[in-house]
Amino acid sequence: MGELSDFCLSVPLGERSYSLHIGNGLLSSGRAGGIIAGHARGGKVCIVTHPGLLRSYASPLASSLSEMGIEAAIVTVPAGERSKNLSAVARLYREFILFGLDRKGLVVSVGGGVVGDMAGFAAATYLRGIRFVQVPTTLLAQVDASVGGKTGVDLPEGKNLVGAFHQPSAVIIDPATLMTLPLRELRSGLSEVIKYGIIYDKAFLSSVVTLLPALMRRDEAALTTVIARSCEIKAEVVGQDETEQGLRAILNFGHTVGHALESVTAYRRFKHGEAIAIGMVTACLVGEVLGVTPTSVRGELCEALERAHLPQSFPLDIEADLILAAAQRDKKTEAGRLQFILARQIGEVFLSRNVPPEAVRAAIERHKGLADG
Ligand code: GLY
Repeated sequence: MGELSDFCLSVPLGERSYSLHIGNGLLSSGRAGGIIAGHARGGKVCIVTHPGLLRSYASPLASSLSEMGIEAAIVTVPAGERSKNLSAVARLYREFILFGLDRKGLVVSVGGGVVGDMAGFAAATYLRGIRFVQVPTTLLAQVDASVGGKTGVDLPEGKNLVGAFHQPSAVIIDPATLMTLPLRELRSGLSEVIKYGIIYDKAFLSSVVTLLPALMRRDEAALTTVIARSCEIKAEVVGQDETEQGLRAILNFGHTVGHALESVTAYRRFKHGEAIAIGMVTACLVGEVLGVTPTSVRGELCEALERAHLPQSFPLDIEADLILAAAQRDKKTEAGRLQFILARQIGEVFLSRNVPPEAVRAAIERHKGLADG
């Protein structure tokens, strides 16, 4: 529980490098306030959060900054993906102006991926860009969204269609925030943790599977261990390919079909990690249809998903053609060609830029056929 258990990792991006601070109790002990104060550099700090996180995290953080002589304000945004839009960002700009946030100012996002994406995008564009710090409070945001500088908002036409790469100045991850996270949200985050094992580190996948019972009962040491390794993998990937010209695309394993599933169900039926869990199984099947992925990869993936109580079956009521059409509309699709991250084995994946739609259709039909298996 003490400072000795804190990890500090670096995202190596030259002059845009930054630290990921991971430690139990960083928020409640005031250590997070100290880290943020170090980044304030004499400017004002505007904390962006959800109303539900005010009492537990945002207000104590603002008080600890005030005690250190830093002028801090809190702005709330409504929870949920549907509030991640340009009008919510416009409201943020106006609050920043009212508070007198200038170019020396710092934005601090406290919350899950929606708050982080939106506050990060506001910081990336306000006054042509000011600094920001991420304090993610969901497992999904801690292991993925808060690291790597992707910020943005949704349009009615699709998710994250407007955005910017804007690296934070620091990321502060307190696994204690996960103690009150709904179980379904926790599992959704575990889907991305399992993804890191599949795409990058076979030994990590084995230890995640071993640790799953402890992770699901929110054992702090187990959570800290898997968050730290997940962040380390993401930092290594982002450090080599900040703007997704190549390697970073491997982080999208399972996302071609996963995003399509979220989109055709209007983001209501699946949590992100649930859609990605199903999408990872389909990606294995696409690789099997194309003869590049041995069935053993799907076997190991499904065992991990099963133990995490994550879905694996393809919804029988969703037509393959609907998924294909949604995948073709995705912002990652180039000239209508379907991109998939495919696995050669556990820990070794590659980007295939032109997967034939017939292969995806065949994979989805096989996936549907496994529904009762
Ligand atoms: N969530 C995938 C990425 O940050 O690239």
